[in-house]
Amino acid sequence: MTTKQFVEEALTKPFGTVYADKMAVAHYRDGSWTPFEIQETKPFSMHPAAHVLHYGSTCFEGLKCHRWEDGSVHVFRLDRHIQRFQGSAERLCLPIPDAELVDSMVCELVTACKDWAPAFPGSLYVRPTLIGTLPSIGAAAGPSTEAMLFVILSPVGDYFSGGLRPLKLLVSEQLRTAPTLGMVKTGGNYAAALYATRQARAKYQTDQVLFAPDGFIQETGAANFLMISSEKIVTKSLDPSFLHGVTRDSLLQLGGKMGYEVEEREIAVSELLEWAKTGEAALSGTAAVLGGVGQLVYQEENYRVGTGEYGAETAKLRAALVDIHRGASEDTFGWLK
Ligand code: COI
Repeated sequence: MTTKQFVEEALTKPFGTVYADKMAVAHYRDGSWTPFEIQETKPFSMHPAAHVLHYGSTCFEGLKCHRWEDGSVHVFRLDRHIQRFQGSAERLCLPIPDAELVDSMVCELVTACKDWAPAFPGSLYVRPTLIGTLPSIGAAAGPSTEAMLFVILSPVGDYFSGGLRPLKLLVSEQLRTAPTLGMVKTGGNYAAALYATRQARAKYQTDQVLFAPDGFIQETGAANFLMISSEKIVTKSLDPSFLHGVTRDSLLQLGGKMGYEVEEREIAVSELLEWAKTGEAALSGTAAVLGGVGQLVYQEENYRVGTGEYGAETAKLRAALVDIHRGASEDTFGWLK
């Protein structure tokens, strides 16, 4: 198959299941990083005692490249993603890669795989990943002093199957993850959300669980949560309990510029249920972009959000962000590279 055919096929498949044929790889050993290599995307071997396999020493990023009409391909907010990646590595006691290393790995790989970037509305999803590779099951021996950093690419379409349809969420008072680890982009946090998400899907046919421990909204397993009206955008204020989404930040900056009042504060479930009578709600994330919410389930009751459809204000905000992605409006924030 040609690259073009792979890319076309990828857009008909579930998100993140087709990969570009090249990946970038660097190793950390003896206290420094090796120069990175761009090599064929293929399985690699690891010692069965590798730290990551036993103690979950891994973090990752998710960002996107967008193809413009003139054929050029642009990475969105790479610097911000690298900053978060470094913060995650630090919290997990993994060797922290230099920003320049990650930047060059992503940019050179994207250049080498430019043909893998689909035309709008598709995009090329970039997944930098850091894993602790030291063979050491003696947890008391401490963090992994060896690591592998790799970047893979995946041509993607919509994260939620079925396109821009209103999403259904179960609002649950369960914990998503350990409160002080929520802001760390580590595999364990995503694995921890799977059980609740699967149970909710089976019982209520929901797309995601909106975690609201102690009755206050946090985020879903895969995205941040926003309440939107024609006047304002309300979302949880930053604390260590949840992921500090780059898309969340972009939407708040953009929304502010578009005239929305931006409120970052705690949101009680009771406030959300009241808001849902007239307001809109949405999930934001690199993968999800901005997905409108149409329905909530809470304590066995169904609640319609706004009209129950993908909200008009949500669509307006999404379009404003996507227009920057695809070069249809000016990138006044300097987000694209
Ligand atoms: C992203 O939005 O990029 C994420 O990392 C979430 C993941 C569940 C796809």
